[in-house]
Amino acid sequence: MKLTNGLMASAGLTAVLFLGLFANTSRGQTQPGGAYNEKVQLGLAIAPVPLKLTAANQNMVGLGSYLVNAVSDCNGCHTASPMTEYTSSPYFGQPAIINSATYLGGGQDFGTLGPNSTTHIVSRNLTPDKTGMSGGHTFAEFFQIIRTGADLDHIHPSCSSTVTTNCLPPPFQGALLQIMPWPVLQNMTVDDLTAIYEYLSAIPCLEGGPGEPPVRCH
Ligand code: HEC
Repeated sequence: MKLTNGLMASAGLTAVLFLGLFANTSRGQTQPGGAYNEKVQLGLAIAPVPLKLTAANQNMVGLGSYLVNAVSDCNGCHTASPMTEYTSSPYFGQPAIINSATYLGGGQDFGTLGPNSTTHIVSRNLTPDKTGMSGGHTFAEFFQIIRTGADLDHIHPSCSSTVTTNCLPPPFQGALLQIMPWPVLQNMTVDDLTAIYEYLSAIPCLEGGPGEPPVRCH
C-alpha cells in the first residue's frame, strides 16, 4: 500500500515535471526562472509605446522589449535622428522620455560609405506595417536578415558597369546591410530573436522609412 502510494506519487511528480518542461519549451522559453521573469517584467515596464499584448504573446513581447530597449539600443539607430530621439532628453539632465513619434520608424541618415560613394545609408522602419509584421517581413525573413545581413529589400545594389546610381562601390557588398550591427546580433539565440520579432510586431505602426510605400499602416 505504502509502496503503491509512493510509486503513484513519483509518477505524478514526473508527469508534472514533464508537463512543466513541455509547457516551457512550447512557448519558446529556455530560460525559466527568476532571471527570465525579471527580464519579461522589466521589458514590459520600459516599453516606451503601447503594446498589442495577448495572453499568448506577452512573455515573448516582454523579453523582446528588454532586449530592444535595455540591451541592444535598436532605437538609437532606428529613430529619425539623435536630435529628436527624446522629447525630454537625459543628455540635457531631464528625465528620459523617448519620442514615440519616431520610435523605431527608421530614417536616420548615416551618410555615405567613403569618398567614392554618393549613396546614403539610412536606417529602416522596424515598426509593423498593415500586415502586422515588423518591417513587413515574416519571422523567417527577419531571422535571415539578422543571421546573414542580407538586404531583402535590395535598396542599394553593388555598383557595376550597368548599375551606377543608388549603388555601393567595392569593397562594399550592396546585397548586405551596412552599419547595421548584424555581425554582432547574429550571435543571439533563436529564442531571443523570436522575442525581438514578437516585440517589433506588437508596437504601433509608423509611416515613412526607406523603401516603404507612401502609406504603409493601413
Ligand atoms: C549602429 C546602428 C544600428 C543599430 C544599433 C541597429 N541597427 Fe538595424 N539597421 C541599421 C541600418 C543603418 C540599417 C539599413 C542598412 C543599409 O541600408 O545598408 C538597418 C537595417 C535593419 C534591418 C533590415 C530591415 C529591412 O526592412 O530589411 C533590420 C531588420 C534591423 N536593422 C533590425 C535591427 C534590430 C532588431 C536592432 C536592435 C536589436 C537593430 N537593427 C540595431 C542600423 C542599426
